[in-house]
Amino acid sequence: MAKTIGILTAGGDSPGLNAAIRAIGKAAIRSHGMQVIGFLDGFRGLMQNRSIRLDGAALSGILTHGGTILGTSRDKPHRMRVGDRILDMTDLMIENCEQSGIDTLICLGGGGTQKNALRLANAGLPIVTLPKTIDNDVWGTDRTFGFDTALGIATEAIDRLHSTAHSHHRIMVVEVMGHNTGWLALGSGLAGGADVIAIPEIPYNLDALAETISHRRASGSTFSIVVVSEGAISADHKAKVDLVTTDLAGAEGESRAQLKAQLKALEAVESQTTAALARRLADQTGLEARVTILGHVQRGGTPSTVDRILATTLGAEAAHAAAEGLSGIMIASRGSNVEHVPLEDVAGRRKTVPLDHPWVRSAKRLGVGFGI
Ligand code: F6P
Repeated sequence: MAKTIGILTAGGDSPGLNAAIRAIGKAAIRSHGMQVIGFLDGFRGLMQNRSIRLDGAALSGILTHGGTILGTSRDKPHRMRVGDRILDMTDLMIENCEQSGIDTLICLGGGGTQKNALRLANAGLPIVTLPKTIDNDVWGTDRTFGFDTALGIATEAIDRLHSTAHSHHRIMVVEVMGHNTGWLALGSGLAGGADVIAIPEIPYNLDALAETISHRRASGSTFSIVVVSEGAISADHKAKVDLVTTDLAGAEGESRAQLKAQLKALEAVESQTTAALARRLADQTGLEARVTILGHVQRGGTPSTVDRILATTLGAEAAHAAAEGLSGIMIASRGSNVEHVPLEDVAGRRKTVPLDHPWVRSAKRLGVGFGI
């Protein structure tokens, strides 16, 4: 009997998801004679058994479309909100897969999805995953699809801010996404010719950031472009966060809950926002500053050529792996190869920017300030 695969997309959406769905589906149908079902809205749709048949017609014409035709959500199988309760719905999801005759479930997602997929795999569901996110922070793969598109959007925005920064002699502070990693800020900052880049991996000192701008001004450049990752953090604040994080590691029960709340409060501190950073840079340098927060525009629209190729390559391999009966793996891009990485190695780890990464080294050599 023909095998059936299920596909779901989970976590934040990302350009290239439809290209990947199309590649999985077409390869599964054409090369392996399999049937394909798509679960709607991530793990929520799997819990509610809401799915659609992905046949040739459904897969046609979606390669260039942004978003995901399947919809997505940030639900976790073991902590699903059902009414006013949070319940572990893992068993129901496995039951629903069995009912739909799913031989392999292919989950497309970022770091959180990899963890959730491993939980389902450990509970007995045959699972293959793909790494998608604009943050490029999934461990075990050189690239995630969505990253290249977001990088292009952020770079174009920085390019456009250059001329207005120049005309008004202003500091233009641009906040880009990236969650707790600086790949997007660093890449777009480098490509867009930023003068200052703040990323979570290199906690900044405000005086040092201001010094870079003042130094530029003294040498005749009356404007500066500052690219800030949404997760960027000052060195002082990082020391506070680290203290709580260390205590959290050994804490249980009530004290754990309290420390978690403390950590959340630290994340929300106003002085760490990009707007506050811009105000303080303006105060210290005597220049006017303006803030642009790129936000979800970085995740929207048609995927770049690079992301289409990456999503298509990984998707076709995922269908092949499913046809071979492989499970518990993520399909990764490494060098010029497509590789299978055990989910156990991926889940719970984050690929941060190494401090000696060539992008960091090059930026430093060009005199870009990181606030250190
Ligand atoms: O993980 C992708 C991402 O866009 C991050 O860069 C960002 O921090 C987050 O998702 C935003 O999430 P949401 O779409 O739920 O606001």
